[in-house]
Amino acid sequence: MSSYLQKKRITTAAIALLLSMLGGISGCTSTLTASQTSASLYDEIGGSKTLNTVFGVAINRIYKDPVIGHYFNGVPKSHLRKQLVSQTCELIGGPCVYEGKAMLETHKDLNIKEREFYILVEYVQGAMRDVGLTYQQENQILQKLAPIKYETIYL
Ligand code: HEM
Repeated sequence: MSSYLQKKRITTAAIALLLSMLGGISGCTSTLTASQTSASLYDEIGGSKTLNTVFGVAINRIYKDPVIGHYFNGVPKSHLRKQLVSQTCELIGGPCVYEGKAMLETHKDLNIKEREFYILVEYVQGAMRDVGLTYQQENQILQKLAPIKYETIYL
C-alpha cells in the first residue's frame, strides 16, 4: 500500500474515533432528528395518539368556522377524525393503511374554493402548534398534505 493511502486511512480512522468520543461526551445521539435515524416522523411526533389530539382540536374549530363549517353538516366528527388520522399516519411513515374514500370522490360536487382550503389548513396548523409539535414537524406534515389541495378544490 502506498504511504499516501496508509496516511489517508489513519487520518480517517482518527477522525472516526474523535467523532465517536465527542458523541459520547456531549450525548449528541439524543439530539438526532428523525431523518438522521430510522424513526419515522410518525414515531417522532408520538404516533396516532398525537394525531388524534391534533385532528380532534382542529375539527372542533373547523366545524364552528363561519365560512367552512357548513360543509361538515351531517358529517360525524369521529368519522372524519378517524379518516384524517389514518390518512396522515400513512403519509408520514406510520403503520396505518388509509381505507377511506378517495379524495377526488369525497370532495367532488362540494365546490370548495381555494381560500376555503387554506382556512382548513390553518386550523390544522394551529392545532399542531397548540399540541406542541415543532415548527419543523408542522411543516413536514403540511408538505405531505399540500398536494391533496388539487383533489379537494373546484370540483
Ligand atoms: C389537505 C386538505 C384535506 C384533506 C387531507 C382532507 C381529507 C378528508 C378525508 C380523509 C375525508 C374522509 C373521507 C371518508 O369519508 O372516507 C374528508 C371528507 C370531507 N372533507 Fe376533506 N380534506 C381536505 C380538505 C377539505 C376542505 C378544504 C374541505 C372544505 C372546506 C373539506 C371538506 C370535507 C367534507 C365536507 C368531507 C365529508 C364528505 C362526506 O362524508 O360526504 N375537506 N376529507
